[in-house]
Amino acid sequence: MLKVRNIAIALLLVSPALFFSSAALAGKRPNPNRGKSLFKATCKLCHIKDGEAKFLSPMSKTQAQWERFFKNEKKIGACVDASFKKTGTKLSADDLNNMSYYLIKHAADSDQPETCGQ
Ligand code: HEC
Repeated sequence: MLKVRNIAIALLLVSPALFFSSAALAGKRPNPNRGKSLFKATCKLCHIKDGEAKFLSPMSKTQAQWERFFKNEKKIGACVDASFKKTGTKLSADDLNNMSYYLIKHAADSDQPETCGQ
């Protein structure tokens, strides 16, 4: 009995280490701060009050709406191209991953809805 308990405790201690190393192997973890600054620099230039396109901040949409937008290649593609024409910066898959992570994390129905300060 004591042995089984010791094994269980050992597993409890080891599993977080396994979890973090497998997360590291699976690829980079999304960086919401990077996502936020990219959103401000490459999207807000049009999506502002009285701008070329509708005002947008993370809490303009729900988590599901943001997810749908980032999965819709036609829609996200059009905005990525539009932003490239304006800024000369081509957003990478990694950039978009950081950005969607930030937007979903602070969506209208998230724990921390946010306006991104603009
Ligand atoms: C050159 C201007 C421009 C830039 C830069 C731009 N967009 Fe757009 N975006 C538009 C226009 C125009 C529309 C369509 C009209 C509208 O929704 O106001 C649109 C639509 C959208 C929509 C609504 C789509 C829908 O049908 O629900 C979202 C969400 C969006 N853009 C997100 C982004 C994101 C994220 C970025 C940054 C990667 C971005 N946009 C960059 C011009 C731009």
